[in-house]
Amino acid sequence: MIRLDKYLSDATPHSRKDVRGLVKRNAITVNGTVAKTPDMKINEEKDLITVNGIPVVYRKFIYLMLNKPQGYLSATEDDRDPVVVDLVPEELKHFAPFPVGRLDKDTEGLLLLTNDGQFDHELMSPRKNLYKRYYAELDLPAVEQDIATFAAGMEFKEFTAKPARLEIDPVDPRKVYVEIAEGKYHQVKRMCERVGKNVLFLKRVAIGELRLDPSLECGKVRELTADELALFGW
Ligand code: URA
Repeated sequence: MIRLDKYLSDATPHSRKDVRGLVKRNAITVNGTVAKTPDMKINEEKDLITVNGIPVVYRKFIYLMLNKPQGYLSATEDDRDPVVVDLVPEELKHFAPFPVGRLDKDTEGLLLLTNDGQFDHELMSPRKNLYKRYYAELDLPAVEQDIATFAAGMEFKEFTAKPARLEIDPVDPRKVYVEIAEGKYHQVKRMCERVGKNVLFLKRVAIGELRLDPSLECGKVRELTADELALFGW
């Protein structure tokens, strides 16, 4: 059992203060009876709540796909730079989502946001061995030998990168796809530097089996579908 105002401020964009006003205006019902006080206790699993005649669908967690633009930090707040949660639509902000992992400020593409700590933990766990796929544009053409260098794994001062896949565009070898198992700081850029190339443009296109929705414009957010969540066993 939880308080009506707590329930509604978790499940809807209404704040607790809004709920007080709605109760005063007789705009909320609980199982068909007009709610008289915002602190009444309700059963979030069983009771049917309506606000302005519309049934409330209760959910605690959200899972969002963002097509991250350049210039945004993978953070919930920052004093100087815009952050990815700024791109979450107003009506979903009350869920307080945070980014699952990070992309660099100048990296674009697939970033997940959630308020479910367990989901975040699961996806970030090395045990999960989730490959992340990136599209990169390099300053110099990649060569066959680079594929073997990536596939052998690489030693860095703070970690050893597991074998990574490098695919080279046959038409323009400056364009490559890279798949890595980890997600360490600047990992793709550092791996490319190791073979003598600088990354000029970087975009994440997939996490495990989940692909960035090609119809999701840069800077836009949408909720993951049940099928997409199932790709992570969620
Ligand atoms: N590797 C990088 O170098 N940058 C990213 O944003 C992600 C992976």
